Amino acid sequence: MTQANRKPFVGGNWKMNTDSAAALSLIDGVASGLKNDAVDVAVFPPFVYLREMSDKTSGSDMLVGAQDCWFESNGAFTGEISIEMLKDCNVKTVLTGHSERRHVIGESDQLVNKKTKAAIAGGMIAVLCVGEKLDQREAGQTDAINESQIKAGLDGVSQSDMSSVVIAYEPVWAIGTGKTATPEDAQDAHAKIRALIATMYDQSTADSTRIIYGGSMKPGNANELMAMPDIDGGLIGGASLVADDFLAIINAGQPQSV
Ligand code: 13P
Repeated sequence: MTQANRKPFVGGNWKMNTDSAAALSLIDGVASGLKNDAVDVAVFPPFVYLREMSDKTSGSDMLVGAQDCWFESNGAFTGEISIEMLKDCNVKTVLTGHSERRHVIGESDQLVNKKTKAAIAGGMIAVLCVGEKLDQREAGQTDAINESQIKAGLDGVSQSDMSSVVIAYEPVWAIGTGKTATPEDAQDAHAKIRALIATMYDQSTADSTRIIYGGSMKPGNANELMAMPDIDGGLIGGASLVADDFLAIINAGQPQSV
């Protein structure tokens, strides 16, 4: 199966950026520039703006997502946000295991796994983020790190649940640095991830799972990255904060343009 059989997914991870006014104007800019539904488009604003963003996009195909979640439904978890609360805000997708959660906040593979399973059980698309740090890349450990994060992150996730999972390969050294993996290196990592999914589940699950790239994806490099057969879209940080740049990346993901 080729990329053409998987609907591209392009997400904008706003991280801890925008304020209320900037978030509203950014989502307006993105919504007004979307041309068709050939690409699944999601934005991941800060928690506090989720309801406003969902209200703004209700009736459109754009998905509003959360950057994180907690795995219990309610209770004494000060500062945390449950999947139920996210659903209440019409959130449809959630990032799990983003590298900043893993390496700045200190989340373990086990916690990422609980969050991923909670997101799937709640009917969300879980975007499981994986990727190696610079020293791991230099030590030739890229595929081993991806494998261990994916195996741990998907522990207990059934084959049928895999239709609710998108995998984001985000090499940590490429995030926010302006350094992008070459299309060939990114393709190689994606192909290995797809082969891993085939061994964990089966070939048809591997063929239908979307694997997206993140790490300094910009309008200037999105076309060549997304033209690769195993790169099914992108998870965009900095460039998703500028509506025109994000729209240009979404356009690069259109199946007919690759
Ligand atoms: P940048 O696009 O800013 O490198 O961020 C990528 C990312 O972390 C998306 O989740």
